[in-house]
Amino acid sequence: MNNFTFYSPTFFSFGKDTENETGAYIKRFGGHKVLIHYGGGSVVRSGLLDRVKASLDKEGIAYVLLGGVQPNPRSGLVYEGIELCKKEDIDFILAVGGGSSIDSAKAIAAGVVYDGDFWDFYCGKPIENALPIGTILTISAAGSEGSPDSVITYEEGMYKRGASGDAIRPKFSILNPALTQTLPAYQTACGITDIMAHLYERYLTNTKEVEVTDRLLEALLLTMVHEGPRVIVNPNDYEARANIMWAGMVAHNNACGVGRSQDWNSHNIEHELSALYDCAHGAGLAVTMPAVFTYVMEHNVMRFAQVAVRVWGCQMDFEHPEVTAKAGIEALRNFLISIGMPKNFDELGAKEEDIPKLVDVLCNGNGRTGTISGFVELNEEDCTNIYRLML
Ligand code: NZQ
Ligand code: ZN
Repeated sequence: MNNFTFYSPTFFSFGKDTENETGAYIKRFGGHKVLIHYGGGSVVRSGLLDRVKASLDKEGIAYVLLGGVQPNPRSGLVYEGIELCKKEDIDFILAVGGGSSIDSAKAIAAGVVYDGDFWDFYCGKPIENALPIGTILTISAAGSEGSPDSVITYEEGMYKRGASGDAIRPKFSILNPALTQTLPAYQTACGITDIMAHLYERYLTNTKEVEVTDRLLEALLLTMVHEGPRVIVNPNDYEARANIMWAGMVAHNNACGVGRSQDWNSHNIEHELSALYDCAHGAGLAVTMPAVFTYVMEHNVMRFAQVAVRVWGCQMDFEHPEVTAKAGIEALRNFLISIGMPKNFDELGAKEEDIPKLVDVLCNGNGRTGTISGFVELNEEDCTNIYRLML
């Protein structure tokens, strides 16, 4: 196991009606004037925003609203949010929604206290300072409620890139599984896929002897395989939604990723798809993961065979471990299809003729120099071959 530091100071309030305590938590974490940041309207339609406002009113906390975050959040609204926070003397940002609203809130929080352009953080500068952030999560997926990460799309060039820093870990996150019951089945499935991707990206490691994190990742993958279909069949299954919601947080606050190298090639390859086609991140991952895994499998066949046996119940073929490894990748693919995810470029709305463009931005855009690295280093030819496997 590698040396590591792990700092995860987010306070979690989990369960039914917990959003009614939002005002009290903002007070506890030092907020006086709040920017409430949200998406395209689901929190308005569900009545959640009104309950949150009532909770702030009860505590005498002032607030300003900024809605309109799009899935795959854009830089334009971040700049607007930074200006609004400065003008209104905001000292706390509350994101109400999914990963997109939370990531946009994180970008604003870092940008407000920085003299330069907030995009510097998405070009590699670590985030060391930010306004405090709280979140009320409405979709189990990105894990941003407990992560030090934010992903934003820069409109000029449509670069989708991530930034990181413990300063943008939320001070508190309110996780009420009942709030996810209004999700369309497709979005629920996208979330399940993203959570599984966060587990696989950590599972694909080059570090030896990482039994504890391997086993934690397997337990979470098994949970998703068990609970995922239950919520697709019955969207109001609170208990299944609760298990998925906590799995989504644990999958990505890095408790299961410490002490080991991680992959993230599937995420990088997918981000170009959601940047170009504006598809849901989880849907893009459903098409990307089986292709990437098939392409890199030979790098460590036993790693893929291990997850095939321990999670997917495949029979170990000791003479031909690649058969077991392949069966595990196929089982993942079939599972994702069974919950309603797309299986190829066509179903995702992606186009074969765009592959050169996707590869160029992926490998050369925004400061990269011809390769992306993770479990395996991939050059332009590799990435072209991987996108072709998705046709
Ligand atoms: O915008 P509204 O109207 O709220 O609708 C949203 C949106 O259309 C809807 N939705 C959310 N909760 C709902 C609901 N509809 C009905 N009922 C509810 N309870 O669902 C749609 C998707 O929302 P979004 O916030 O985009 O989903 P998600 O949480 O999957 O976030 C995706 C973004 O997170 C990034 C992705 O790249 C993508 O941009 N990621 C962020 C990460 C991080 N910060 O650590 C890691 C991830 O790997 C990921 O890359
Ligand atoms: Zn993801």
